[in-house]
Amino acid sequence: MAARRLEIRTTAEEAADAAAALIAEVVRAALEDRGACHLALAGGSTPVACYERLGPLVDDWSGVHLWLGDERCVPFDHPESNGRLVSDRLAAPGATLHRPPEGAEPGEQARAYGAELTEALPAEDGTGAPVLDLVLLGLGPDGHTCSLFPGHPALTARAPVVAVLDAPKPPPERITITRPVVDAARARLVLTTGAGKAPAVARMLGAPGRDAPVSLLRPVDTTVLVDEAAATEVSEADRIGVR
Ligand code: 6PG
Repeated sequence: MAARRLEIRTTAEEAADAAAALIAEVVRAALEDRGACHLALAGGSTPVACYERLGPLVDDWSGVHLWLGDERCVPFDHPESNGRLVSDRLAAPGATLHRPPEGAEPGEQARAYGAELTEALPAEDGTGAPVLDLVLLGLGPDGHTCSLFPGHPALTARAPVVAVLDAPKPPPERITITRPVVDAARARLVLTTGAGKAPAVARMLGAPGRDAPVSLLRPVDTTVLVDEAAATEVSEADRIGVR
């Protein structure tokens, strides 16, 4: 199977720098090639340092569409909202931030967001999934990414966005893009740091399995960017060719 591109930086700050630079280059190339850029961004705490670095790296955000790889079903101004996280921490004046309909039932939020995504983007041949330019992905200690949790039925969903009502990571009610959308993207970037993620990073690089959703994602055009603390369990074989 084609390997993911594994990049290891000494510190979390250097990983954030590298992630911001990679995303800024994706934005530049997409705007040059297609006049627009569609990014799906991650929630949680890890990407905050990346978002703070990314804002100033893009001269003109006006052609950039920011989507949420997953979102908690909470009010827009709730401290647990990923949309609020992106709005507060990524300075992207003129960008279009797409958020699911506030206050709707999770199933309706998923349906509406999936329809908006599908309407805004070209469809991949074959699966028909909307094609994003890049999906930025976090990684949970259990190998989850977006709100795709181990063994969850969402792992086999074909709809572009589904509701998750029983997330093991609070809050329980979320919506998430699904594997067809993640895999259809032109590029994927998994950004994770810290010793707590070392087992999940090593598992990600192993055989694909529903016990570790991130291991199921398309490895081609996928960059895994970690700090040394999160790389302590990466085998010597997986370190070959590492930048
Ligand atoms: C979410 C995130 C989730 C996150 C991981 C890692 O909405 O919770 O999308 O998938 O990326 O749980 O979270 P941390 O970066 O906070 O460790």
